[in-house]
Amino acid sequence: MIPYQGSKRLLAPAILDLLRARLGDAPVPRLYEPFAGSAALTLAAAQAGLAQQHIVGDSYAPLIALWQAIVATPQQLADGYRAVWNAGDYDAVRAAFHSEPTPDKLLYLLTRCVKAAVRFNRQGAFNQAADKRRRGTHPDRVALLAHAAAQLLAGRAQFRAGDALATTADAQAGDVAYLDPPWHGTTVGRDARYHAGYGHAALEALIAALHARGVLVLLSYDGKRGGRDFAQPLPQSLERLELPPQRSAQATLLGRVEWTTESLYVSRP
Ligand SMILES: C[S@@+](CC[C@H](N)C(=O)[O-])C[C@H]1O[C@@H](n2cnc3c(N)ncnc32)[C@H](O)[C@@H]1O
Repeated sequence: MIPYQGSKRLLAPAILDLLRARLGDAPVPRLYEPFAGSAALTLAAAQAGLAQQHIVGDSYAPLIALWQAIVATPQQLADGYRAVWNAGDYDAVRAAFHSEPTPDKLLYLLTRCVKAAVRFNRQGAFNQAADKRRRGTHPDRVALLAHAAAQLLAGRAQFRAGDALATTADAQAGDVAYLDPPWHGTTVGRDARYHAGYGHAALEALIAALHARGVLVLLSYDGKRGGRDFAQPLPQSLERLELPPQRSAQATLLGRVEWTTESLYVSRP
């Protein structure tokens, strides 16, 4: 539904297979996705009926407002998007978004910006440029996708803007939390992206808090690319599984073809 760099859309089926292998097919009470972005895992899990309730969180509040609009008022969102898309002036939308960050404007920026890659300046303002070759997803398709997502999630999803520790605070034994925080390489240095990074200490604290309440944790973190291993040691309470190899989205951004083997860390039984 939402184009988003780092989306787990392609990996979601493999992640859900591992979840089923661990827990079986019966739906879990609540599936939390506190670093949701495009909420690829939530959408795939909802499609497969794997949870009774979905909790979708992200610390970037305009993104959560966009999710709320998709599910609560899909037609209104699609109409607003159509008006912005018809005008077709990316720079004007980006400037208007800074003073009034509405869901339709954010969706347009995401569908038109370079490689669907969100970038923010030091002041936290969305500063990614337009991809001149793209007009952005056609409004008819946006309407279709918004209604489909609304049908899937209405009445069984909650959307929460905030830090992952806060948005998962009510998760309990029997619930599952899928974590896809910004990775180290995208948190520090030249390649920092998203509106906020996520440090290793914060991640360890989050995992410890979830485990203390008996929540099953699935964590996508780091990976191997081009033969280099980017993984940092994680708590012993998690075991590392390897997902089937995928083409590296980050290398594709740089015009290269590389395969990554992403790890999925899962709470030990
Ligand atoms: C790697 S992306 C997640 C991509 C997502 N799995 C998907 O399928 O699109 C990481 C997300 O974490 C969010 N984020 C960064 N710091 C956060 C925090 N402290 N708490 C919650 N979300 C955070 C970012 O805004 C970004 O959307």
